[in-house]
Amino acid sequence: MIHYGLKGVIAAETGISHVDGEKGQLIYRGYEIGEIIDQCTFEEAAYLLWYGEFPTGEQLHDLKVSLVGNRQLPSYIIDLIVSLPDEMDLMSALRTILSAEGRKAYRWKPTIEQAIRMTAMAPTIIAFRRRHLEGKTFIPPKPELNHVENYLYMLKGEVPTKAHVNALETYMILTMEHGMNASTFSARVTASTESDIVSAITSAIGTMKGPLHGGAPSEVISLLNEVNEQGDAEKVIRNILKRGKKLMGFGHRIYKTIDPRSVALKSKLKAFSGEDKWLDLSMKVEKLGVQILEEVKPGRSLYTNVEFYAAAIMKAVQMEKELFTPTFTASRIVGWSAHILEQAENNVIFRPQSKYIGPIKKKEDSIQV
Ligand code: ACO
Repeated sequence: MIHYGLKGVIAAETGISHVDGEKGQLIYRGYEIGEIIDQCTFEEAAYLLWYGEFPTGEQLHDLKVSLVGNRQLPSYIIDLIVSLPDEMDLMSALRTILSAEGRKAYRWKPTIEQAIRMTAMAPTIIAFRRRHLEGKTFIPPKPELNHVENYLYMLKGEVPTKAHVNALETYMILTMEHGMNASTFSARVTASTESDIVSAITSAIGTMKGPLHGGAPSEVISLLNEVNEQGDAEKVIRNILKRGKKLMGFGHRIYKTIDPRSVALKSKLKAFSGEDKWLDLSMKVEKLGVQILEEVKPGRSLYTNVEFYAAAIMKAVQMEKELFTPTFTASRIVGWSAHILEQAENNVIFRPQSKYIGPIKKKEDSIQV
């Protein structure tokens, strides 16, 4: 029997997170995601995923110190940021630049210190590259700001408001980890060959980039923009589906009910923006999208996924479309690295099989006379 797309196949045991698609539940290391976003910072949630428990005050302090040190980019990375062609999109640039970090020091086995370094570097690379493309000077990170504050600060050049930090931090914690999704699987496959953490994260970034995975929020913005311009949401949705296209931000391999991250983001947006055009538009498109998908694809249980409200959150914190997937990547590096470390602890190389369906030939049969 062939499991196309490995649907339903359990390929590893994990203690990192649990996704219950029927109940619409997401758990990090035993704790429900709702509790974590209400009570934790990005740093605390990352510590939990890496170490399996919440940090003490001293452990949190040490993690922050380590993040501060690793946020400073070495000169060869800065040289690369400015020398890559301008037409290279941010995800491709991030993939290339982070992979340049793969030096001799990164040999098997991966360590938490390496995971912290990769996590610390990503936002600085994204912000510097973005500013370089805009013809602006780099804004170095400030040691007194936390991870999410620094990211917004390095992008915009001013210390962000508490509301913006809170909205983005919620998104970045919610998207840190999500079981054996496509990019995490890529990371684990690469790690399973006893390759280094930098290579495994580079593989994952390449997978994350695709529109069916991490590239979806930019496409959601295109959908919302189209509805905003045309005014007739139903017509726009029906036209997309008539063309045989997917409605971006809807559907999920595991969730057959509403994605709990979508619920959390919507409620954060309501608290954050109050009366907001994009939130209203998003809710309208969500309602119509679910109704029309049930009509066109009955019984498939297609609801909004995390990417749907991610688009509105990004708009609310004034992030441009090009930054959506890189921002998702900056948070998911935590989950990827936790999985790479877990893979290394009990490693079995991934090597599934394929079924040959081509012909069996003899070379002499192909000789023309
Ligand atoms: N729009 C229209 N139809 C859809 C959608 C959608 N968004 N999602 C699923 N369907 C349909 C499929 O066409 C399929 O129909 P069929 O039974 O007639 O063949 C059925 O629902 C089952 O869908 P699959 O694609 O087989 O489901 P799968 O688990 O393979 O894919 C995926 C899940 C990739 C997320 C899919 O729902 C999709 O492409 N959604 C849009 C892209 C998106 O939002 N991606 C972000 C996901 S969240 C994340 O990666 C972080």
